[in-house]
Amino acid sequence: MHSIFTDEKDLQGMREAGRLASEVLDYIAPLIKPGISTGELNRLCHAYMRDVQKTIPAPLNYQPPGYPPFPAAICTSVNDVICHGIPGDKVLKNGDVVNLDITVITQAGYYGDTSRMFNVGEISIMAARLNQITFESMWLGIAQVKPGTRLGDIGYSIQSHAENAGYSVVREYCGHGIGKVFHQDPQILHYGKPGTGETLVEGMTFTIEPMINAGRREIRTMPDQWTVKTKDRSLSAQWEHTVLVTHTGVEVLTWSNGTPKAPDCVGPLQYRPNPVAA
Ligand code: MF3
Ligand code: CO
Ligand code: CO
Repeated sequence: MHSIFTDEKDLQGMREAGRLASEVLDYIAPLIKPGISTGELNRLCHAYMRDVQKTIPAPLNYQPPGYPPFPAAICTSVNDVICHGIPGDKVLKNGDVVNLDITVITQAGYYGDTSRMFNVGEISIMAARLNQITFESMWLGIAQVKPGTRLGDIGYSIQSHAENAGYSVVREYCGHGIGKVFHQDPQILHYGKPGTGETLVEGMTFTIEPMINAGRREIRTMPDQWTVKTKDRSLSAQWEHTVLVTHTGVEVLTWSNGTPKAPDCVGPLQYRPNPVAA
């Protein structure tokens, strides 16, 4: 099942969901410092969603087939954790890099899904370069989005940027259609060949969320059945936006005041932020 939204009501619903997901990251960003635990970040984000936004954290008790229920409101993925890190007692220390992945469900029933990398104190030049290349890869993928683009065009632009920098693309997890459900078709692979795969049409909403490893692409899933790490213990980075295919191009739905601006390699006219963001 794909969501292809044509009603203005649905588009406004998706814009609200995207803005709210992004605003959770704006809220928590200044609190990510050495000494705070991932569990505390989870509690703060959950309280903000519940008490301020009146949104529901989609990850909490989320249980795809073959998985135990996810036990927290957000994912916190530190250093060599690729994705789906479970918040807990882990205390962040100077030099760590952490991805916070937020998915909210609004009262109207729409999902917004976004993640960013955060530096804990001062990070290494190596870690900063991985974060930057991953950020650029996501944006190069976003810049491909318009009616007529093939999914392989998105995957190719992400993969070639990451691999040209000497990094590898995780294959086991991908972007996804999103709307009034969390995960649905199409799968948005972060690798591929130009001119292949499904063709984008106006009204599609999906995520682009590349996971890029500094070393090899292989993964290792921890005994908790959720946490995914790099097999070679190299650093991994991820950025995620939810986007809408518009008549002429792309609208980034997960946009708020604190959203980091697109990098220089993406021209300013190739995207338009969520117009609902204040
Ligand atoms: N937010 C993740 C994504 O981008 C999914 C997390 S599922 C969870 O698709 F259960 F781990 F939270
Ligand atoms: Co997602
Ligand atoms: Co996500």
